[in-house]
Amino acid sequence: MQFELLEKTFPTTRYQGSKLRFANWIWSEIKNLKFHSVLDAFGGTASIAYKLKKQGKKVTYNDILKFNWYIGKALIENDKTILTNEDVDAILSKKPRVKYPTFIQDSFIDTYYTNEENIWLDMVVYNISKIKNEYKKAIAYFALFQSCLAKRPYNLFHRKNLYIRLSDVDRSFGNKVTWDKPFVKHFCKFVEEANNAVFSNGEANKSLNHDAMELDLDYDLVYVDTPYISDDGGGTDYLEFYHFLEGLVNYNNWYELIDHNSKHKKMQKRDNPWCDNTRIEKSFNDLFNKFKSSIIVVSYRSDGYPAIEVLENILKKYKNNVKTSIYSSHKYALSKRTSQEVIIIGY
Ligand SMILES: C[S@@+](CC[C@H](N)C(=O)[O-])C[C@H]1O[C@@H](n2cnc3c(N)ncnc32)[C@H](O)[C@@H]1O
Repeated sequence: MQFELLEKTFPTTRYQGSKLRFANWIWSEIKNLKFHSVLDAFGGTASIAYKLKKQGKKVTYNDILKFNWYIGKALIENDKTILTNEDVDAILSKKPRVKYPTFIQDSFIDTYYTNEENIWLDMVVYNISKIKNEYKKAIAYFALFQSCLAKRPYNLFHRKNLYIRLSDVDRSFGNKVTWDKPFVKHFCKFVEEANNAVFSNGEANKSLNHDAMELDLDYDLVYVDTPYISDDGGGTDYLEFYHFLEGLVNYNNWYELIDHNSKHKKMQKRDNPWCDNTRIEKSFNDLFNKFKSSIIVVSYRSDGYPAIEVLENILKKYKNNVKTSIYSSHKYALSKRTSQEVIIIGY
């Protein structure tokens, strides 16, 4: 069992703000605290939830975006289901007598992918939506999201910029080989990565899809990794960056969710205080108050807004002990960067 656990690896990810490379460090900072049940309230790629699952904790993953919820289902809640070669073949093949929908090929012409790729996406997303087993479906969506990200310049959907991928010019960035690799190849690789990550730690782990402020359960420890706001006030709006993936899991009502005035057909904005520097302090206060009976662990950056001292002071209102650690590594020490990864622990 132990050997099997060690062999399991978290898939590669291109998601903005993933804490994957800090997961071992975060674990080393919290491992001596007494806790068993844990909530990863802003779960994203699930990199921290996965680390905690590996350490034998009872993990609840949560994210406000539905596509991320599927990632939590595939990697955290799921403890044994994988996609077989037959499953993959079924997802990738055009079924006779099915009249496939055409939403992506009609709506996203010259936007993110080529026509041929859009036709493939319409077919695959329809085939995935018909999978009955929820964990197989979650792995298939996971592989589709990662494939979509891999083929995008900047790995984002913030602009209509297919031309960057297609134009034949010298580039100082990006990876044309990866962009041009067929969807099918990316998809199969990511299915394998997800399959390799599936394991049971003997606990009933869960994936949820709520606003973090609406979660009402008790946890020994709550891990908080909110969208980052830089010190000049710019916030990271994850729906803005990844609306296309959110569309894939809302395929049947995608049209109604789109802001049709936007050139790149993003989704209509949803109010989110975590992306607003005028409301973020209050949001931290409300969140810490809400989870004051739990150990609270916050990831932030030293150049973020609010400043670390401000976050510490808010946390001190609810916790007797507040401890801050800064990530340091050889690489960081040598570089000139001033922004550092920080965790603040209230217990
Ligand atoms: C910095 S990322 C988390 C990264 C994650 N720790 C990882 O390693 O991938 C922040 C996440 O919070 C989610 N989010 C934003 N507002 C939220 C809210 N009100 N409730 C729950 N999740 C939210 C975003 O969708 C995004 O995935």
